[in-house]
Amino acid sequence: MSEGGAIVRVVDTGPGINADTLPRLFEPFFTTKTDGMGLGLALCASLIERIGGHIDGRNQTSGGAAFTIALPPVEQHLKAAQ
Ligand SMILES: Nc1ncnc2c1ncn2[C@@H]1O[C@H](COP(=O)(O)OP(=O)(O)OP(=O)(O)O)[C@@H](O)[C@H]1O
Ligand SMILES: [Mg+2]
Repeated sequence: MSEGGAIVRVVDTGPGINADTLPRLFEPFFTTKTDGMGLGLALCASLIERIGGHIDGRNQTSGGAAFTIALPPVEQHLKAAQ
């Protein structure tokens, strides 16, 4: 992580991410829900990467999913957004 950046980690206690879904998590319009659009994570990834950050999704060994977002320092956000 760049100095002055931030790491945000979000975890849940759900069933975890299906093995077939893992490589497609951030693919636009990929969903396993009957009422999903498959846009939530694709939009997150697009916005985070636009400012020079990164998002990663995986399963926790204890169960449930974990998403880690690395954000660069704010000065770099501003440069990336110009
Ligand atoms: N916390 C989670 N636990 C298990 N699977 C998940 C989790 N978050 C996402 N997924 C899987 O990744 C897929 C894509 O998620 P994403 O948020 O992009 O779309 P969605 O939730 O299906 O639809 P939308 O966000 O557009 O309403 C989901 O359909 C689901 O299969
Ligand atoms: Mg969603």
